[in-house]
Amino acid sequence: MSDNIKRIIVPDSNRLAEKGAEMFCEIAKESISDRGRFVVAVSGGSTPRAMHGRLSQNPYLSDFFWQNTHIFWVDERMVDFDHPDSNFGAARKDLLEKIPIPFDQIYPMPVMTHPEDGAGLYQMTLKTFFQGIGSDDPVFDLILLGIGTDGHTASLFPEQAFSYPAQSWVISVKGGNPNVFRLTFTHLVLNNARHILFLVSGKDKAPIVQALLEDNTADLPAKNIRPLKGTLTWLLDQEAASLLF
Ligand code: 6PG
Repeated sequence: MSDNIKRIIVPDSNRLAEKGAEMFCEIAKESISDRGRFVVAVSGGSTPRAMHGRLSQNPYLSDFFWQNTHIFWVDERMVDFDHPDSNFGAARKDLLEKIPIPFDQIYPMPVMTHPEDGAGLYQMTLKTFFQGIGSDDPVFDLILLGIGTDGHTASLFPEQAFSYPAQSWVISVKGGNPNVFRLTFTHLVLNNARHILFLVSGKDKAPIVQALLEDNTADLPAKNIRPLKGTLTWLLDQEAASLLF
């Protein structure tokens, strides 16, 4: 395993949420100390929700880093924010409504528009933000990812994960569960991050974790997460890691 890829295995999903919150806070403080801000992008799905819940409680709730945090989304389903499938809606309920983050530092993906237009709008949002902090590249301090049992990550699904213009930062796709239109970061953005953290829990993910971490022939979207300069950490509970050597 290359020296910028780490595995951390914890006993269960509760400890996964706690460890994820600890790492989120550590990277936030390191980023703010080094650059005066913490720029993070979160994924959807069910796994991160317990971590979001943990971050909404003390000691994290009352910590200073929220004032300097900018939060973006890795992907989003093109549904209303009040829809149960909305990634932003879930994060708003679990975390955003409870923490003292300035409203203008929360950047939800535009879902009430045509998918192609939404992708272009969010790509513009990213470019404007990063150029505003003096970066031509989308270098997030932390990107949180999950994986599907088919090896997808973000909303980059096996059947279409590589069929997009190479320089795109955000694309629209249709697929996944739920099978809806989505906006998603591309590998270009994901691999520019300073820290990528996969959160993976449960026995149903054990086969895909084994394929991604131990089968070099596997050509899957999550396999192509290789940070250019940053670190990659697989934070797994014991069930998800149960097929690893
Ligand atoms: C999405 C997510 C997706 C998720 C995985 C794992 O919007 O669907 O970003 O990539 O991370 O599907 O989902 P679970 O955590 O629910 O297993």
